Parts: sequence; C-alpha cells; structure tokens
Amino acid sequence: MISQNTIQQILNRIDIVEIVGSFVKLKKRGANYLGLCPFHNEKSPSFTVSGSKEIYKCFGCGKSGNTINFLMEHEKYSYVEALRWLAQRYGVEIEEKEVSPEVKAQQQLADSLFIINNFARDYFVNTLFNTEEGQSVGLSYFEERGFSEEIIRKFQLGYCLNERDAFVRTAVAKGYNQEYLQKTGLVTIRNEQPVDNYRGRVIFPIHNQSGKVLGFGARILVKSDRAPKYINSPENDIYVKSKVLYGTYFARHAIDRLNECLLVEGYTDVISLHQAGIENVVASSGTSLTTDQLRLIKKFTNNLTILYDGDNAGIKAALRGLDMAIEEGLNVKLALIPDKEDPDSYVRKIGAEGFRQFIAEKKQDFILFKLQVSLQEAGNDTAKKSQLVNEIAETIARIDKVEDFTRQQDYIRQCSQLLKIDEGGMVTLVNKYIRERLTKQAAQQTRQQTSQQQEDGPSLAEQYPEYFQDDQAPEAAIDNLFNRDERQERELVKILLRFGDKPFSEEAQNTVADYIFHLPYDFESLADSEVVKKILREYKTHYDQGNPLDKKWFLYHQDGDIAKNVALILEDKEAELSPNWADRFEIKTVYGDNAYLKDTISTTNYLILRKIKKLIIENQQEMEKATELEVQMKCVEMHQHLKQLEQELTQQLGMVIFR
Ligand code: UTP
Ligand code: MN
Repeated sequence: MISQNTIQQILNRIDIVEIVGSFVKLKKRGANYLGLCPFHNEKSPSFTVSGSKEIYKCFGCGKSGNTINFLMEHEKYSYVEALRWLAQRYGVEIEEKEVSPEVKAQQQLADSLFIINNFARDYFVNTLFNTEEGQSVGLSYFEERGFSEEIIRKFQLGYCLNERDAFVRTAVAKGYNQEYLQKTGLVTIRNEQPVDNYRGRVIFPIHNQSGKVLGFGARILVKSDRAPKYINSPENDIYVKSKVLYGTYFARHAIDRLNECLLVEGYTDVISLHQAGIENVVASSGTSLTTDQLRLIKKFTNNLTILYDGDNAGIKAALRGLDMAIEEGLNVKLALIPDKEDPDSYVRKIGAEGFRQFIAEKKQDFILFKLQVSLQEAGNDTAKKSQLVNEIAETIARIDKVEDFTRQQDYIRQCSQLLKIDEGGMVTLVNKYIRERLTKQAAQQTRQQTSQQQEDGPSLAEQYPEYFQDDQAPEAAIDNLFNRDERQERELVKILLRFGDKPFSEEAQNTVADYIFHLPYDFESLADSEVVKKILREYKTHYDQGNPLDKKWFLYHQDGDIAKNVALILEDKEAELSPNWADRFEIKTVYGDNAYLKDTISTTNYLILRKIKKLIIENQQEMEKATELEVQMKCVEMHQHLKQLEQELTQQLGMVIFR
C-alpha cells in the first residue's frame, strides 16, 4: 500500500505532456499538443493533450483521460503499477503504508518468484545462444521451425541443457532460495536431490501484461509417449493460469491499434503470427476461456476473433464460453483453420498476406456459427429445433439492449432466416426473455428499495408524480428525475472539491467544508447517487482526520468511476446553478463576489429541502391512509412542524420558494 503522502507527491509532479510525450510524438498546436493516436490507426493526428487541464483526448476514437489513465490504457498497468512507474520516473521515494505481516510476506514471496524467473529466463536465453548444446539442439530446432533470430530474441525463447542439475546448481550457487526454485517449477526433487525440471527442452517464457515473467512453458524436442509435450509452470503466487493469456505483453499495442484481438491455442501460433507481422494475437494455451481472461481481452478491445482448427475440442470448449463472452460485452467472431493445420503451420503455408485475407474473408459471427452447428445436429428433430430457437433467443436477449440495439436486430433477422421462422415471432420471443430478465432485476431492486423506503419515505413515483406520467417509460422518468436531483448532489461535490478549504464565515472562522459538515444533516445519506455517496464518504473520513483531500486526489482516483465522475463534475458547466435557480428561488445577494458562498448555501439547502419535502409527502400519505382520529391529528401536527421547518430554513438562509 502506497501512503497518501507519497501519492500526493507523485500527483503534484505529474506533467502529462512529458509523460504522454514519451510514448507518443507530440507537436505543439496552440495551447495544446497534437499527435497520432496510439489507441487506433490513423494517418492524420487527432490525439490531443492539454497540459493545463491535465487530460488527453482523441477526437478519432474518443479515448480520453488523465496521465494515470493513459499509463493504464497504454501500458495496461493497474492503478498502483502506474503510480509506481511515475514514482520511479520522478524519483519519489515510495513510503509504504503499514501492511499486515501476512500481506508483506506475500509481497516478498511474489517479488522473489519474479526475481528467480527473471534470472532463469536470462540463463536459458544465454544457454540457447552461447552454449554448444544450446546452438546445436535448441537453436537448430527453432530454425527448423522457421523462427528468425529476431523473433526468438523478442519472445526471449531459451533452452535448458539436457543435464541433471546444470541450472539448479548455478542458481543455488548464486544464492537463490531452493524452496522458491521449487515453487516456480523450475526445479523438482528426485531421490531427495534437486534436479532441473525442463531438461533438454526449449523454453517459452510467459509474460504478464507489463513484461514480467510469470512462468514458463517447456517443449520437448522429440516425439514421446512417456513425457508430455509441454511442461508448464505450476500455479503459484504469481502464475494463475486462468488469468493469463500468452502473448498479451507483445500484442497489447497492436490490439489497441487494430481494435481486434485474435485468439489462438498455442505458444508457437502466437510467435509465428508475430513473425508474419500479425501482432494482435494471444493464446489461451489449450484450455477453454475463463471470465478473467475475457476481461483481460476487454481491457484492450471488444472485438475477439477466435482462430481454431475445425474439428478441434477447443471449439466446443469455446462455444461453451459464448454466453459468458456476450455478457462481458464482447463481439465474438470465429475463423476456422482448415483441416490438419494450426495458425502456425497455416501462416507459413499461405504467407502473411494470404493469412490476413483468410481471416477477413472467413471470419464469421460466433452466434450464427453456433446456430449453424446446432442446426446440423438437430437435423429434422422438431423438439430439438424448438429448444434451439429458445436457446438462441435467450442468447440474443443477453446483448445489452441500449448499446447494441442494431446488433441485436441484425441477429434476430439473420437467426430467423437460418431457422426458417417468422422474424416477428423471434422478436416476440427475444422480448420475452428480455422482459424476464428485467422483471427479475426489478424484483431485486424492489426488494432493496422496500428496505430503503422504510427509512426514506415514499417511492419515487409518489414523490414526483410529474415525472411518472403514464405515457412515459419508467427508465425515462428516472432519468428525468435524476437529471435534476443528481445535479444538485454533484454540485455539492464540486463545491467541496473546489472551495472546501475557502473561508465560509469570518465571524465563525470556519471553512466551506466546516459549514457543510456541521449542518445537522448527513449529506452522504441524503444523496441518491452511489458515486456521490462514495466521494462524500471518503472526503468526510479524511476531513475528520484533519487531512482533507483535494480535487487531484479524486481526479486521479483508483476507482475509475470516481475519477471519471469527478472530472465530469468539475468540468460540467450545466451544473452551475444559476438558470434553474433563477426560475425557482430568489437568492439574496448579500454574499458579494463570493459566489461560492451562495452556491454552498443554495446547494445544501436544496438537498435538505428535498429531504423535508419527501417527509411532507410521506406524512400526507400516512394521513390519508389513517382511519383513527388520533393518528390523523398526529399527522396534522407533524405536517405543521415540517412546513414550519421548511419555511424557517428557507427564510433563515435567505431564500424564497416560489412554488
Ligand atoms: P498444441 O499441441 O497445439 O501445441 O497445444 P503447439 O503450441 O501448436 O506446439 P507445436 O506447434 O506442436 O510445437 C496448444 C497449446 O496447449 C498447451 C500449450 O500451451 C500449447 O501451446 N499444451 C499442449 C500444454 O500445455 N501441454 C501439452 O502437453 C500440450
Ligand atoms: Mn503447432
């Protein structure tokens, strides 16, 4: 854990032009800088960097963000990795927040495994190129397969001597811990003696997204029934198979640029395609895709193209992952490699250009492919066929409706043609599944809301009937509602981040934040927006501890949702109150030029009044329901009390309500 102090130091030094400029060639254009976007293919520059706003934005592909986002996007770093990278660059010493001994031990173990893997990789590369056996066995094997020296060096391929313990002896002599050597799988124990696990094999290091070696695949050189073709690193603290795709480190920029990720099965497929200049490719290493791997791909692109050979078990496994991929929002395509070939052999056979053309021509939609396969299987069996219709309708219903409406319509059309059924019927069926899902979600929400309502008063529709007219879809109504109310909540965040430390009242010698947090209302619980709640909570916690956070902290927040929203909130001109407020309130201008005081008061007021109004409506409803006189009287009393509160509050704070 990096301390808050260190993070603040790093953030203070960030110079976006310099950082982005070290990855992208930038030219000054007016107040901004301009270059070719690293995230998509373009010939004329539309990638803009603003030093003063500390953001980049591409007007071609729409990617935008701050320096940390850039490093996360371009280098695929995590938030913490990006911070560490910046710290190193700026020579900021990282002060670690106290972590528990367990976490610390785990970090140390992970570090040790990385160090050992690093050493082993160098050792195997050296063996391959600089020993006689390495050259005559390992290197000549790679050459036979057509791998160039350049590609061998790029992928850091290596060779492990066919000796009992050549590697482990060297490693131990250099002081590497034997227990850790076993954990990495490089060494095993035989007859109580440590021996090299990858004897006489060529070595494929497996990298994480930032190029660190997680583990190895070691291929045997002769056909053997007794030994497996590949020995892979066992799972350990750094190598978790389900989260890794071979080749991401080398493919990441090409995937960004081409906005497509090719998926193959094997190490050698990745390497051969790279050598042919097709670099946007990763390998699943012969297993079916996991959700973690799909998410990894989604970090780079929404377009996944699977290249498997036709009669392979891999296809069946991949098909099983289809619904998962669709729910992750991926566009999945498939190109079947012809019989007896794999991408490695096929690209060598037909050449780079031929291979590119083959993908372009042959790749088909995965949903349609699945349908065709299943149709063939179903044959003339009507029961099977109707089951199939239902299955496919359910799959199509999983496509996110708003975002991908056209895509969904396309599927409905094409699938009904393939199934030879009426398109209208298909629409009805898909809608049925969508409705089912929505009902299920709504039921969940109601359950949550009912428990909320007991604290919070009547439903949204009851509070704001004007937004819930019959002709309006509920989603639209909610949108309308939140446009107004959420804006006020976001305004509160803006005030805190911009003016929190500014003086509020000379007399009371307090700041704006003091004022807000000393009102007898808890704005975190008054707010509806989850992200506003999160920001207020974090701000308040640090404020209470006496070291308030500034807007930079939130602009570069680890939680992307917070960072994005704060950027919008601080930018949002519309959130300035004036027009709305002019219509509904008249704010006395006793605050002179300090408009932020006016904004502070009117915003906090609005949120408090909103709460009181909710209570008034709730109370009225109770009154209407009440049958006993006593209860009715209580409600009337309550009503008067609330109304008085409403009035007092508005008067006291210098506002008149027109409505
Ligand atoms: P393949 O058998 O297709 O291997 O397995 P390959 O990569 O094409 O290798 P060559 O071309 O025969 O040299 C595909 C992937 O499945 C995993 C490896 O990741 C391999 O790249 N695999 C295969 C293993 O992990 N262990 C095995 O014994 C076999
Ligand atoms: Mn192969």
